[in-house]
Amino acid sequence: MTRVDLLVTNAAQLVTCAAGAASKRGAAMLDPVIIPDGAVAIDKGQIVATGPTAELVGRFTAARTLDASGRAVCPGFVDAHTHVVYAGNRVDEFELKIRGAAYLDILAAGGGIHSTVRRVREASLECLVEETLPRLREMLQLGTTSVEVKTGYGLDTATELKMLAAIEALDAGQPIDLVPTFLGAHAVPLEFAGHAEEYVECVIEEQIPAAAAWYGNSSFARRGVPFFIDVFCEQNAFSLEQSRRILEAGIAHRMRVKAHVDEFTHLGGAALALSLEAASIDHLDVTPGEELNLAARASTVCVVLPAVNFHFGGDRFADARAMIDAGAAVALATDRNPGSAPCPSIPLVMAIACRYQKLLPAEALHAATINAAAAIGIAGDAGSLDPGKSADLLILKSADYRSLAYEFGGNPIQAVIKRGQVFPNT
Ligand code: NIG
Ligand code: FE
Repeated sequence: MTRVDLLVTNAAQLVTCAAGAASKRGAAMLDPVIIPDGAVAIDKGQIVATGPTAELVGRFTAARTLDASGRAVCPGFVDAHTHVVYAGNRVDEFELKIRGAAYLDILAAGGGIHSTVRRVREASLECLVEETLPRLREMLQLGTTSVEVKTGYGLDTATELKMLAAIEALDAGQPIDLVPTFLGAHAVPLEFAGHAEEYVECVIEEQIPAAAAWYGNSSFARRGVPFFIDVFCEQNAFSLEQSRRILEAGIAHRMRVKAHVDEFTHLGGAALALSLEAASIDHLDVTPGEELNLAARASTVCVVLPAVNFHFGGDRFADARAMIDAGAAVALATDRNPGSAPCPSIPLVMAIACRYQKLLPAEALHAATINAAAAIGIAGDAGSLDPGKSADLLILKSADYRSLAYEFGGNPIQAVIKRGQVFPNT
């Protein structure tokens, strides 16, 4: 008998999403790999074994046993696209949007991202961390165990570095693992209005080298956590050519590529990012079929963000059904931010994806776990219940994992296990 720290036993369904370190694409997203009456053995924060309870209790004795009778167990959620570090809120804009104001018009009028930039520039590092901590705590309670976090509310070198420092402090200061992304090209700041080219030069010549230097000395680099470059390729933000130069500058500083593309306007950003071997292309609301077919043949993950469409009150969603049917690896994320998606909940995002994007619950679960982990370069350590990976798993309130997307508006999670540590939702 091998002694381990923790055994989770008798799960009505042990849903492993087993995939090794690879994303799951196309029809493979339909099989979540369920072990009935399953168990997980955990030691030193890692998964040691999964299998039928009868088998694992014969192989392992544990310092602690958690009985998951009558409950499904699945991998912790990976939120692959967020702007969760910010100050203030945009609840006033919410009313404007309900009355019909468009997101890009609010931005062009100096609101939107710019109003959050003002608040983040004013905030101290300590305040930014303090404001963000409860958001991450709530996300953990809703089952999220890893989160990608973007900068992009600084838009000057000093404030972008303050955001990176906040991400590093938050990573150390609470249980969720964070993955940093540099998004100095989120908007052209108001002091550069009419001089977008000059701002692009500032991003390339000053901000990206400073961000790369920060990463080199960060705890992320020491632990092998990747660092991404991102750009908002959009009308009123950055053109295709500007996006290319920014992403190439990031690559030159060893960053991996992500891009906000086709949220409102098709500029060709998806094809550009695919040609740069992006880890992910995100939004994809108005991407034409030819480009989705290109994505289906690439290792790039298609990250769709239906909480944004929901928040805008529109009836148009990224065609994630067509992406999966074409053979793409699709991931879901909240896009948590104060403007387009003030949403902490991956279960709610799964519910929207099932209803409005016609994903089946198994597809939505893969999209929120292993494929999301692949989108942020951590699939070797997270996203599925495979031995050797971090012990990040959820004990659900229901015996059937499909309830994650079937029920909505509440919290379907009974307990979160993060790196072997148990956080009950009481
Ligand atoms: O992914 N589209 C650009 N960026 C965010 C919104 C950020 C904001 O409005 O503050 C997004 O939707
Ligand atoms: Fe975003």
